[in-house]
Amino acid sequence: MLNIFNKFMTKIAVIGLGYVGLPLAIEFGKKYHVIGFDINKTRVEELQNGKDHTLEADLEGMEQAVKLHEANPDKGLSFSYDENDLKSCTVYIVTVPTPIDRFNTPDLRPLVSASEMLGRAISKNDIVIYESTTYPGCTEEDCVPVIERISGLKFNVDFFAGYSPERINPGDKVNTLTSIKKVTSGSTPEVADKIDNLYRSIITAGTHKAPSIKVAEASKIIENAQRDINISFVNELALIFDRMGIDTNDVIEAAGTKWNFLKYRPGLVGGHCISVDPYYLAKKAEILGYIPQVILSGRQVNNCIAPFIANKVLKLMIRKDHKIKGARVLILGVTFKENCPDIRNTKVVDIYHELCGFGIEADICDPWVDAEELKHEYGVPVMKTVDVNKKYEAIILAVAHEEFKTFDFEKYYNQKTVIFDVKAVVNRQWVDGRL
Ligand SMILES: NC(=O)c1ccc[n+]([C@@H]2O[C@H](COP(=O)([O-])OP(=O)(O)OC[C@H]3O[C@@H](n4cnc5c(N)ncnc54)[C@H](O)[C@@H]3O)[C@@H](O)[C@H]2O)c1
Repeated sequence: MLNIFNKFMTKIAVIGLGYVGLPLAIEFGKKYHVIGFDINKTRVEELQNGKDHTLEADLEGMEQAVKLHEANPDKGLSFSYDENDLKSCTVYIVTVPTPIDRFNTPDLRPLVSASEMLGRAISKNDIVIYESTTYPGCTEEDCVPVIERISGLKFNVDFFAGYSPERINPGDKVNTLTSIKKVTSGSTPEVADKIDNLYRSIITAGTHKAPSIKVAEASKIIENAQRDINISFVNELALIFDRMGIDTNDVIEAAGTKWNFLKYRPGLVGGHCISVDPYYLAKKAEILGYIPQVILSGRQVNNCIAPFIANKVLKLMIRKDHKIKGARVLILGVTFKENCPDIRNTKVVDIYHELCGFGIEADICDPWVDAEELKHEYGVPVMKTVDVNKKYEAIILAVAHEEFKTFDFEKYYNQKTVIFDVKAVVNRQWVDGRL
């Protein structure tokens, strides 16, 4: 346990340089010797060229950390896709994806394969810290045994582990890695202290040392499950109030005048976290013999919203005497949230497919999205800008990107065009329906 916590001797490897791993590698790279590692060679080369397609990275900080390394090879940040480079590290932080498969079952393959690789890389006294969001028990029951098996080292004797969940919110430039309090944990009290100190050295908001790895894992998964359930409640209200002919956002505005009412808004729940993590918790609960009804019913309600929106728009179009087959509909926004290029598990694509199923010709416009990536992931085309000469029978504001807040809806507003506002941001006088 001697070599790892000295600022001058600590050599950190961050495994997986996505939305979570890259900002972390940069922040540690300003103070420590860091290797940012990813199996995706294209991603590594992009970063080596000073670019970041996720738009999450502090590019100035990245340049500063990389220059530090160029000036002194024992400091700063470098990037690699060669696992041989990992062997000299003492602390490994795993930030690989934790997706679900098509049956909504946790897909641990990235975590397991990263753990296998670490089994080949680690030496005595090293520490492996997992940051990927997962169910309680995953680190010690699913990942650590893989490292033990491959390395031949014994857990909590030869090597140690920790878990420190990430809480960043892509697109949010206020709540960033260093300004959000970070939960930490370790496999022994001593290691927990060391890991806490390591994070404390970069997180200005401070840390919260959880009493165990399982508690730290559980804390993260319930943050996202709670948000999913809260949104599912207002989404259910939206389905009910639609039948009553009242606007859910109006109801929430009124109810929100009470001091203890939580003003969640209805919406599409997609992305890599909120729409995925509850399944991790649910699966673990099921393995332990409990069927989590609240968590799963929340998921079901949230999954109903995209088809509900498509059907609502169709009804509004029929009410305005539009012929549905061959009608043109413009969808503004396709990312899973505003002001970021992330299209993972976006539910806007479900709206698109539902409309196309009725013979509608739908166009998607999103200035944030890489057209090739969208085509590759979903087989769906996207335009960067709206063709002003093209006429649409309906327009759906699906994502509240800044660009769309100044979209000229008034120009399209007439007796015929249906305007549907999923995000409740468009001037009410031009809108036919909201979620
Ligand atoms: N994106 C978020 O907002 C966010 C927030 C908090 C927590 N998380 C969690 O953090 C984890 C990572 O999420 P992300 O959004 O950064 O994912 P991401 O897909 O943006 O990045 C993951 C990176 O890991 C790489 N990778 C995959 N398998 C690998 C392996 N075996 N070895 C090395 N690299 C590998 C991929 O090439 C990719 O670059 C997930 O568990 C996620 O749930 C994400």
